[in-house]
Amino acid sequence: MICECVSCVLSLPSVLSTYNHLVNTFEEDFSQDNQNLKSRVRELEKRIETLEKSVDHKYPEVERLSYADRKRILITGGAGFVGSHLLDRLMMSGHEVTVVDNFFTGRKRNIEHWFGHKNFELIHHDIVNPLYIEVDQIYHLASPASPPHYMFNPVKTIKTNTVGTINMLGLAKRVGAKVLVASTSEVYGDPEVHPQSEDYWGHVNPIGPRSCYDEGKRVAESLSYAYAKQENLSVRVARIFNTYGPRMHVNDGRVVSNFISQSLQNQSITVYGTGRQTRSFQYVSDLVEGLIALMTNNMTLPVNLGNPEEYSIDEFASVIKHLVGASSSDIVYKDSVEDDPQRRKPDISRAIKYLNWYPKVPLKEGLMKTIKYFREELIHANAKEDVSNYSNHMFA
Ligand SMILES: NC(=O)c1ccc[n+]([C@@H]2O[C@H](COP(=O)([O-])OP(=O)(O)OC[C@H]3O[C@@H](n4cnc5c(N)ncnc54)[C@H](O)[C@@H]3O)[C@@H](O)[C@H]2O)c1
Repeated sequence: MICECVSCVLSLPSVLSTYNHLVNTFEEDFSQDNQNLKSRVRELEKRIETLEKSVDHKYPEVERLSYADRKRILITGGAGFVGSHLLDRLMMSGHEVTVVDNFFTGRKRNIEHWFGHKNFELIHHDIVNPLYIEVDQIYHLASPASPPHYMFNPVKTIKTNTVGTINMLGLAKRVGAKVLVASTSEVYGDPEVHPQSEDYWGHVNPIGPRSCYDEGKRVAESLSYAYAKQENLSVRVARIFNTYGPRMHVNDGRVVSNFISQSLQNQSITVYGTGRQTRSFQYVSDLVEGLIALMTNNMTLPVNLGNPEEYSIDEFASVIKHLVGASSSDIVYKDSVEDDPQRRKPDISRAIKYLNWYPKVPLKEGLMKTIKYFREELIHANAKEDVSNYSNHMFA
């Protein structure tokens, strides 16, 4: 209700004029602010443009794929050792690739050469939490892989391989994607059958120190086939054997990294156990080819991907010592590690028969590339140490 008393009626014009004045001032201020804002945005846009031009975007060469052939691919654990090589291969083939990683063991340095590329996306995410994106294929690699890493937080390792795998299978089910689960030769445990074929059920200690990983992966396989059967999901299971190459962790405590870094630093080479236990090693590019061959093949049973050339740990230590030229490194023996498998060699007849896949990179060739990488990493690490010593001196 409007007041009609004399004083109010008399003061109404002055109130109206004040109101109009305020509105005009506000509009002027607003349009001034707006102008300022617009010119600042323009300034920022120009700076971004200049910065973008100043950064030399030299991406590796990428193929052009037709819309029908180009896939939207998710790699979980794509910033890790194997994942980053798989990323390179898929990007260069012209696919759109999303990497999901929590950077527990992965590094941005492994994938930074793709930052800014229109086909590449990085999501910092822990797969123990659900993920909602649209993809055609999922390479599920996220999991710590070396004993010190997976034993660091065994409960988290189990969660990543169980809850994380459920999340990825659930995502695949929602969007109708094909999913490849990275399993491991560790599902065979300390095998009583040699070489290990996919039909062998394994010999795993369910409560030993490695069980968080071994059993985690066995559940991941079991989940994959449960989803395939119950939800009609298209799953592939790769049982990966020891893999080495550039970008593997220098301090992951495994044979290849231990022997190379000890030889490069002219330290004694440490062998745990008698040295007669065997391993077989595949170069990372061979594994990547195997993973892609499996994803694009109809083989839904587990497939071993590894190099069947078997070496005793002693032999392997001598090969590395020789390639590095570490004549002063002697070999010292320490007590064997609990549940350490005594023999490891994949039977790859299934991969040969169905995928037409077999490893091609000879051990020496792969090791030379890996040694080169380790040498650079150690120089980098030492340079960093020098800098930090120098700064300590400066601030002492
Ligand atoms: N390298 C081998 O010799 C080998 C052998 C057998 C199986 N595998 C399997 O292959 C896969 C890759 O191994 P790798 O050698 O590259 O190991 P890696 O440690 O270099 O890579 C694993 C990646 O997964 C990420 N990750 C771990 N937990 C995660 C989580 N909860 N959420 C999101 N990201 C997570 C890590 O940060 C890392 O980038 C693993 O599943 C491993 O079990 C590897």
